[in-house]
Amino acid sequence: SSLKIGLVPADGIGREVIPAARQAIEALGSDVPKPEFVELLAGFELFTRTGTALPEETVQALKESDCALFGAVSSPSRRVTGYSSPIVGLRKILDLYANVRPVISVAPTPEEKPSVDLIVVRENTECLYVKQEEMTPTENGREARATRLITERASRRIGEMAFELAKARQRKHVTIIHKSNVLSITDGLFRETVRSVPRLHEGKYDDVEIAEQLVDSAVYRLFREPHIYDVMVAPNLYGDIISDAAAALVGSLGLVPSVNAGDNFVMGEPVHGSAPDIAGQGIANPIASIRSAALMLRHLGYGAPADRLDKAVDEVIREGQVLTPDLGGKSKTQEVVDAILKRI
Ligand code: NAI
Ligand code: MG
Repeated sequence: SSLKIGLVPADGIGREVIPAARQAIEALGSDVPKPEFVELLAGFELFTRTGTALPEETVQALKESDCALFGAVSSPSRRVTGYSSPIVGLRKILDLYANVRPVISVAPTPEEKPSVDLIVVRENTECLYVKQEEMTPTENGREARATRLITERASRRIGEMAFELAKARQRKHVTIIHKSNVLSITDGLFRETVRSVPRLHEGKYDDVEIAEQLVDSAVYRLFREPHIYDVMVAPNLYGDIISDAAAALVGSLGLVPSVNAGDNFVMGEPVHGSAPDIAGQGIANPIASIRSAALMLRHLGYGAPADRLDKAVDEVIREGQVLTPDLGGKSKTQEVVDAILKRI
């Protein structure tokens, strides 16, 4: 049998780091079913050339794949008529309701930053990212509004994902991130629903401890005492912000992987964006992308090959000889990939 893997490099350094993940998977040999890669188009650059950011063929091919890897998209910060982000679209279309982002420090950093080993479990389909915004002119100038959607269904399944992940970890601890002192209805529903998860699964999560934290103080404590966190579960926007913040603690966004996961599909995706400031120079850190491939494989049940990828990456970081500039090194993307391949 074979493993059909859709590859969507999309924009900027996405096109430099997805080939790295591909090489890493290929290096696993017979540890995984023979990978069959399908290269697919999407992105803002494609949109500017063709008028479509997410072609129907890409969606169709992904639906026929076992899993996928997505690079990064560039999104303009102004509204561009006809454009909407393909990654946001794909998460919806494939019902990838959870974005799972493990943040782990490997090498001790020179600044002696505290060590981090946590997972951010971010709800991936709603909150402010439903993108229902409107502008109305008023006597006193324009007024803009956005709708924030929180449903019991989405909060429950993201809660279940968080408890399930926590159960498999050593600490078995879940922190619910919210701001229900201000947003008592929306964040109130999120908090209450996640809290109710253990009750819905009698006994199953008895060994998992639950805590909660307001999002602002959660960021503060994340920087001061990151070791208090194990699994952090959050609505979409808070989860987005917290995971980038956590990435800063481990040295670079270029290290942090994620998967977008649903009940029937999983798509690995580095947490970073298209990095236009370094795109095209061949110096993007490929590690987040390779770790996203590992996470994707683990999610599919291939734990041992996933460990092999992670171990090879950890060794290269610890040795500290072959690193890209974001980690203080001088190496090129492909040199880091080669060092990792050698260890796989
Ligand atoms: P970014 O993550 O692209 O870059 C932030 C900083 O981190 C930059 O200085 C960049 O050079 C550095 N960086 C990121 N990944 C790196 C890597 N692998 N190796 C070395 N350095 C790395 O975020 P930014 O600059 O805010 O956004 C750029 C574009 O990416 C925007 O159009 C944004 O909308 C998009 N974006 C897309 C995401 C996605 O596809 N899921 C996520 C975040 C941003
Ligand atoms: Mg982000």
